[in-house]
Amino acid sequence: MQPMEERVAQLMREVEAFLPSSAEDAEQFRIRTLGRNGSITQLFDDFKALPPEQKKALGQPLNQLKNLAQEKVQLAAAASPRKPAAAQSSEDITRPGEPGHLGARHPLSLTREHILSIFQRIGFSVAEGPEIEDDFHNFSALNFPEDHPARDMQDTFFLPGNLALRTHTSSVQVRVMENGKPPFRMLAPGRVYRNEAISARAHCQFHQVEGFVVDKGVSFAELKETLLFFSREMFGVHTQIRLRPSYFPFTEPSAEMDVSCMFCHQKGCNICKHSGWVEILGCGMIDPAVLQNVGIDPEEYCGFAFGMGIERIAMLRYGVNDLRHFFENDQRFLQQFSGGIE
Ligand code: DAH
Repeated sequence: MQPMEERVAQLMREVEAFLPSSAEDAEQFRIRTLGRNGSITQLFDDFKALPPEQKKALGQPLNQLKNLAQEKVQLAAAASPRKPAAAQSSEDITRPGEPGHLGARHPLSLTREHILSIFQRIGFSVAEGPEIEDDFHNFSALNFPEDHPARDMQDTFFLPGNLALRTHTSSVQVRVMENGKPPFRMLAPGRVYRNEAISARAHCQFHQVEGFVVDKGVSFAELKETLLFFSREMFGVHTQIRLRPSYFPFTEPSAEMDVSCMFCHQKGCNICKHSGWVEILGCGMIDPAVLQNVGIDPEEYCGFAFGMGIERIAMLRYGVNDLRHFFENDQRFLQQFSGGIE
């Protein structure tokens, strides 16, 4: 007969290597090792007859062997519990359920929520206004001169009764300001309409988020810092911004803001047309005439405003190269956002 140490060592290897493939398998293993005539039980019987020094040397390994075998049996039992009586029927109640079909949030909704949440973290609240607007809220109060091209049929969808589909969400600025008292720190997201031919870059309907702050002593530096914070939260901590002088009737001074290209990191690519910069919004200090138009004293208060297109931001975030995808409801496009990529 093999010496006792060798039998213990060999059995240890066997027990260590044992991986039950079923509850049945584990039960066979238990009988084979720990059962009345099992190999480990046998070892314990033989152990009793050993001289004391050998007992001393073998007691511990033998106990380890037994414990390990018991653990393996218990693990197998826990992994495959005995089937309850009901499982005798043809229904397999242990089968995993069919996953329910989850829809996806629209990429424009995801982007809108993301934009809003960034500004909400620095104290902005959200307001909404109507999509059908009158001339005062969409144009006059915002200082658009009578002969401004946006007032032309070519650019704006006019409706009977001196109404129009709003051409921008700047109109909500006017509505909020005329109905409340400063300070304001607001966002106005929503759909806007323009009489444009539909292409990869333009659509007759799209979405904007307008933001504005009115208070005592608001500065251009605060505008810049707010937009830098937004840009870094949206496009990454290394994002740079640049403000280019521009013109809008309702802001003075006005600027257009570019962010450093998030695709090529300013090495030059098709998206930034090898300039290293992509334009994302318009902004400026609210023209005192606008404050006056809504009954706010421009001597006491001043403010800044900015406006961005949600489609534009979504295209840059997700690398979408055709605006029309957002409106066509093609499942193959929309399903890509089912993970809720924020
Ligand atoms: N309303 C402008 C547009 O539709 C966007 C805009 C530009 C909004 C500058 C602003 C601003 O508040 O300051 O193109």
